[in-house]
Amino acid sequence: MRQILVAGNWKMNLLGAAGSSLATALAAKYPISAVEILVCPPAPYLVSVHARTSGSAVRVGGQNLYFAPQGAFTGEVCGDMLKDVGCSSVLIGHSERRQFFGETDDLLAKKVVAGLQHGLQVVLCVGELLSERQSDQTEAVLKRQLSGLAQVSAEQMANVVIAYEPVWAIGTGVTASTEQAQQAHAFLRSELKTLYGEQVSAATRILYGGSVKADNALELLSQSDVDGALVGGASLKADSFISIIEAGIQAMSLRA
Ligand code: 13P
Repeated sequence: MRQILVAGNWKMNLLGAAGSSLATALAAKYPISAVEILVCPPAPYLVSVHARTSGSAVRVGGQNLYFAPQGAFTGEVCGDMLKDVGCSSVLIGHSERRQFFGETDDLLAKKVVAGLQHGLQVVLCVGELLSERQSDQTEAVLKRQLSGLAQVSAEQMANVVIAYEPVWAIGTGVTASTEQAQQAHAFLRSELKTLYGEQVSAATRILYGGSVKADNALELLSQSDVDGALVGGASLKADSFISIIEAGIQAMSLRA
C-alpha cells in the first residue's frame, strides 16, 4: 500500500521567525505520523527548520537544486548541500520554475539525476497550463514532462514521487475536480507502467497540488490514484496544514 505523503511548499514565503514557529508547531504535533510529512522552506531557512523538526516525523526538503556537484554557479545550491543541511527531499520542476525561470524538461532530467545521486527523494512536478487543458493537450504535456525521468532506472524510482499540479489550479483557489485529478493521476500511472512496468507503477506515489485546502483535502486524497498532496498557500499556517495532514491520515486509514 502506498503511504500518503503530505508536503508543504512554502515557496518564497515566511521569514525566519514565522517559519521556525510553524516548524516547531508541526514537530510538536507529529512526533510520529501515519503519513509522510514534508516541508520545503526557502533555502536560507533549511538549517533552522531542520533543527526544529529533527527527531519528529516532519522531514525537510529543498525547493530546487542545480545539477552540477559544485563550482562556479553563483546563486545555486547543489544536492550535496541540501543533504548536508538535513534535507531528505527536493522538489524538481515546479511549474513556477518552468514558467518564471525557463526550466526545460532536459534541464530537469539532469536535476532529477543529481537529486537521486545525492540520496534525495525527488518530487518531480508536472502539470498542464489552462490553455493546454482547453486544447486537449493535457495528456501530451504530462507525457512530455515525464521525460524528466529519462535517465532514471526502475530501481531509482523507489526514491521518486510525482506531483501533478495543474498550473491553472495553483494559487487560484480553483481546485481540479476529484474526477479531473483522478483521471490525470491514472494517466500518469499508466505512463509509469509503460516506462517501468506494473510493479514500479503501482508503488510510485503521485501527489496532487493546486489549491488543496482543509475542506477539499479528504475528497482528493480519497481518490484511488491520489497518494498525497503538495500544498502551497494552506501549508503556511499550522492549523490549515495540520488539517490537511489529518485528512491524509484519515484517507490512509480508509485505504487500509
Ligand atoms: P497552492 O496550494 O497555493 O495552490 O499551491 C500549490 C503549489 O504550487 C504547491 O507546490
